[in-house]
Amino acid sequence: MIRPMTLIKDLSQKAGAEATIAGWLLGKRSGGKVAFLLVRDGTGVCQCIAEAGNPDVFSAAGELTQESSLEVSGTVRSDARAPGGCEIAVSDIRVLQKAEDYPISRKAHGVDFLMSHRHLWLRSQRQAAILRIRHTVIKASRSFFDNRDFTLVDMPILTPGVGEDAKSLFSVDYYGEKVFLAQTGQLYLESACMALRKVYCFGPTFRAEKSKTRRHLSEFWMIEPEIAFAELDDVVALAEDMVCSIVDAVLAGNQADLALVGRDIAPLMAIRKPFPRITYTEAAEMLRSEKTAKWLIDELERDRAEFQKKVKELATLDQRLAQAAKGPARDRLQDQASELREEIHDLEADLAARPEHIRLAGTFEWGKDLGGSDETIISRMHDRPVFVTDYPKEAKAFYMKVADGGKGRTVRNMDLLAPEGYGEIIGGSQREEDPEVLVARIREVGLDPANYAWYLDLRRYGSVPHGGFGLGIERTLSWICGLRHVREAIPFPRMMARMDM
Ligand code: 4AD
Ligand code: MG
Repeated sequence: MIRPMTLIKDLSQKAGAEATIAGWLLGKRSGGKVAFLLVRDGTGVCQCIAEAGNPDVFSAAGELTQESSLEVSGTVRSDARAPGGCEIAVSDIRVLQKAEDYPISRKAHGVDFLMSHRHLWLRSQRQAAILRIRHTVIKASRSFFDNRDFTLVDMPILTPGVGEDAKSLFSVDYYGEKVFLAQTGQLYLESACMALRKVYCFGPTFRAEKSKTRRHLSEFWMIEPEIAFAELDDVVALAEDMVCSIVDAVLAGNQADLALVGRDIAPLMAIRKPFPRITYTEAAEMLRSEKTAKWLIDELERDRAEFQKKVKELATLDQRLAQAAKGPARDRLQDQASELREEIHDLEADLAARPEHIRLAGTFEWGKDLGGSDETIISRMHDRPVFVTDYPKEAKAFYMKVADGGKGRTVRNMDLLAPEGYGEIIGGSQREEDPEVLVARIREVGLDPANYAWYLDLRRYGSVPHGGFGLGIERTLSWICGLRHVREAIPFPRMMARMDM
C-alpha cells in the first residue's frame, strides 16, 4: 500500500498541517539558501520549498532532475502568490526514481519534435489541460443523451461496406476477405433506432484522408445520435441543444484549463440558441456576392496589418531575450517568443493562401460540396455556430433524404459550422425512408444495392421518418480550446504520413 497522500488540488484544506504529496518534478530553481521545487501530481502544481537549514532535504533537492518521481512531506502554508494558493515547507523528500536527462526541456521545441515525443509531451500543462477539457466534452455529450432517454448502443468497427464515401476507406484483411474500418456507426445505428427509438453510439471512426489539413485525422472519435419519428428540424434542434450544453459544461468546469491553453472565452460565452440557419443555396450566393468579396478583402488587409504588428512584437521579444539574464523570467520570454514564432509561421501560410480562397469563393459553383476554405469564410462571418442545410444531393452521401419525395435536387441535411473559422463540427440529416428512392441513390453513387439488403430491410418493415447526426469530438475540442491544429485534440493522432508511435 502506498502511504496516505494529499492530492495537490486538495492541499488548501490542509493549510497549517503536515501533508505528503506524490508526483513528478516539473522544474526547480535555486535562490541561494532555498530551493524551489515545482511538483505536479496530475491534479495540480505545488511549489515546495527546501531550505539549506535542513541539509539532507536541501541536497536531495539539489540532485533532482526534471520529471523525477518523488514524494514530498512538509507543512502546508497558505500563500496567495503560490500557484494553487499554497506551498509546502519541505521536511522530507523521497525520490522514487531519478529521471534521466528529460528530452523536453524548458527551451522551445518545434511541433515535429514534440509530436515525436507525444508520450512525454502529454505531461505538459497545456496538453494535460486539453485532455481534461476533452474529458468534459465527452462526458457532457454522453450525459446530454443519457438525460434525454437515449440508449447507448455500440457499433462495429469492422464493416463489409461503405458507410460514408468510397474514397476514404481503410481496408483490413479479414481471414482472407477485404473489409473496412468503420467511417461511421450510423447505418447500423439506424437498425437500433427502429428497436429503441432514441439511440446513440460513440466510438472511433476511420477515414483515409489523403490530404494534410488542420482539420483532418485518419482516426477520430464521433458521437452519433439517431431518432425515429423525426425530420430535419428535429435533428437541427437536437444538435443545437447538444452544442450549447457541451459549451456550458466546459465553461462551468474547465475555466482554469481554458486559461492554460490561452483560450479567450468571450466568444464561447456568446454561444446560445438559436443558431443562424442558412441553406446551401444561400451559402453559395453569399460566397459569390460582391459584398462578401469586399468584406473578405477588408478582412485580409486588417489581418495583414495585424501580422506586421506581430512580426514587430517578435523582434522586440528577441531583443529582450538577447539581453535577459538566465532564469525563470528569461524562460517565460523564451516561451512567449516561440509561441509567437509559431503563430506567425501559421499566419503567414494562411495569409498567403487567402487570395486563392477569395477567388474560389467568388467562383463557387452550385453543386459542389463546400470546400474547407468556403466553410472557413462562412464560419468567420458568424459569431455563433451556423447550420447550413439542404445541399445538392451529388455533394452528399447516398442515405440522405432527397427533397420533394425523391424528385428534388437537394437533400434534407445539415452541417454545423463552428465560428471563428473552425468550420464543420457536425454533419447530419434526415434519412431516406423510401426504399425505391434509396435504391436509386445507392446506384447513382456507384454502389451495389445487393450489399445494402439489410439496410433496405429497415425501409421494408415499418419505415418511419428518422434522422441523426455525428459530432466529431476532436473538431469540437479544437474549436472550444482555440487550437490551431486538430492534432493536439487527440492523445495519439493518426494522420497521413504521420503515426509516431
Ligand atoms: O459529416 P460526416 O462525414 O457525417 C457522418 O459520418 C454521418 N454518418 C454522421 C451521422 O449522420 N450519424 O462526419 C461527421 C463529423 C464531422 O462533422 C466532423 O466533425 C467529424 O465527424 N469528422 C472528422 N473529424 C476529424 N477528422 C476527419 N477526417 C473527419 N471527418 C469527419
Ligand atoms: Mg460532413
